[in-house]
Amino acid sequence: MLNIVLLGFMGTGKTSVGQRISEKLQMSIVDTDTIVETDNQMIIGKIFDRYGEDYFRNLENAAVRKASKYTNHVISTGGGVVLRTENLNLLQENGLLFCLKATPEEIFERIKDDSHRPLLKGPNPPNKIRQLLQTRQVQYQRIEHQIETTNSSIEEVTNQIIGIYQSASSPPQP
Ligand code: S3P
Repeated sequence: MLNIVLLGFMGTGKTSVGQRISEKLQMSIVDTDTIVETDNQMIIGKIFDRYGEDYFRNLENAAVRKASKYTNHVISTGGGVVLRTENLNLLQENGLLFCLKATPEEIFERIKDDSHRPLLKGPNPPNKIRQLLQTRQVQYQRIEHQIETTNSSIEEVTNQIIGIYQSASSPPQP
């Protein structure tokens, strides 16, 4: 069975929705950020601080290579995975790709109390969110299934994704 691959900006619900899908469909879940942290024995904030973003992107690419070899998994990804087209191509080999979306205002509301996102550490996080979303817009839009989450619950988003996944996986009607 194909993987369910969740992509999208920070705070769009990839982790929560991924966990719920994995519970409901009894599929294992992997997360590219967790793979990076486990394989390198270092949290992402520290990797950014010590070695910078480019270095992190190489580790992230290695994590994507690993995750994309699985089948029948939910794969939750870091928000910047789309920055390399190669990552999307790898994930597509065994997976159905979903891009979770939300407005910049909603994203800020959801993540404003978290301190573990190095790219939003600066003085004006709402502005940084808008800027990053704008620069990544083209890459996010390339993903086949676009899922708006701003006004939806985790359960609603989960069910929507499961519905698309099941109809994509079922054999064509005669
Ligand atoms: C990043 C998103 C983060 C994490 C890293 C960089 C990004 O993951 O990979 O901080 O570039 O958008 P989440 O989307 O899970 O927060």
